[in-house]
Amino acid sequence: MTNKKRPRVYITRKLPEAVEARMGELFDVELNADDRPRTSAELAAAMRQADVLVPTVGDRIDATLIEQAGPDLKLIACFSNGTDQIDVEAATRRGITVTNTPNVLTEDTADMTMALVLAVPRRLAEGARLLTDTPGDWAGWSPTWMLGRRIWGKKIGIIGMGRIGTAVARRAKAFGLSIHYHNRKRVNPATEQELEATWWDSLDQMLARVDIVSVNCPSTPATFHLLSARRLALLQPTSYIVNTARGDIIDEAALIQFIREGKIAGAGLDVFESAPAINPKLVKLAADGKVVLLPHMGSATIEGRVEMGDKVVINIRTFFDGHRPPNRVLP
Ligand code: DGY
Repeated sequence: MTNKKRPRVYITRKLPEAVEARMGELFDVELNADDRPRTSAELAAAMRQADVLVPTVGDRIDATLIEQAGPDLKLIACFSNGTDQIDVEAATRRGITVTNTPNVLTEDTADMTMALVLAVPRRLAEGARLLTDTPGDWAGWSPTWMLGRRIWGKKIGIIGMGRIGTAVARRAKAFGLSIHYHNRKRVNPATEQELEATWWDSLDQMLARVDIVSVNCPSTPATFHLLSARRLALLQPTSYIVNTARGDIIDEAALIQFIREGKIAGAGLDVFESAPAINPKLVKLAADGKVVLLPHMGSATIEGRVEMGDKVVINIRTFFDGHRPPNRVLP
C-alpha cells in the first residue's frame, strides 16, 4: 500500500485466526473476539469512525446506516459472496465502494447443494437421526424399511446458472441427473454441451417438468419470492426443492403449506426467510422427515473461509493502493 496511514478496519464478526492475523499485520483492525452479532447502533458507531467496514452475511447495512457513515468510510469489503445485505446503491451514492468474495465459495456451496439433493429424497437425516435418537427402533434390514426416492435418471432444474449453479450441474450430471436450467441468459454453447443441459426461458415451464429444483440465484428485488405460491403449484407432488442461496427467494410459508398438503414431496434448506430464526412449522416437517434443515453451512469450510479472508485483504489493499479492487460490486 502506498498510503502511509494504516486504514482503520472494523470487522463485524470473528474471522479465522490466520485471516485476523494477516489483517492485523496490514491494517489497524478492530476485531470481534466474542463473535457477538453487532447491533445497528454498534455498526453505526463503527461506520462513523472506520475507513473500512468488513461486514458478513447477517449484518444489514441499509441506506439509513450508510447515510450516518463518517466521511472516512470509503470501503465496505464484505466477507461474503452475496451482497443482498448491503444497500449497494446507497453506498455508491455516498461514494463508498463495495466489494465481495466471489469464486472461492463456489465448489463448497455446490457440494452442500448436492448433499441436500441426495439427503432429502434418500432420507439421510431421518435415518441418521433414528440410529442416534431411538436406536431400539431398528430391527435390522428389511425390504420395506426407509425407502426413499431414486436420484439417478431424474431431472434437476437449476434456477440461476452462474458459477455455483454450473458447479451444481456438473455434480448432478455425475449422479445421473439430467440438467435443466433457467437463467436470464443461456450459458455458452460449450458448457451447455458438456452438461447436456436444457435451457428454459420460461421458469414456469421448467418447474412443471423437473423432479428436483435447486435454487442458486442471488437474492435481489427481482428474485424475491421467485418461487411464489403460484409457481410452487406448478411442481409435481413427487418433486423436491433445495435452496442454498437465500431464504427470501422462496415464499417459505407457501412452501411449508405445499409440503404439509403433500403437493411437494420435500425440501432441503440451508437458508431461511427469517434466519437465524426458523419457522417452527419447518422444524416439525424436519421431525416428520419431510425436510432437511441446515444452519447456512453451504460455504462453511476452513479452506473457503481463509480464501474469503484473502480476498477481503486483496480488495482492501488494492483500494488503498489507489486501484479498482478486483471484486467491486456495482449497484
Ligand atoms: C455468502 O458468502 O454469500 C454465502 O451465502 C455464505 O455461505
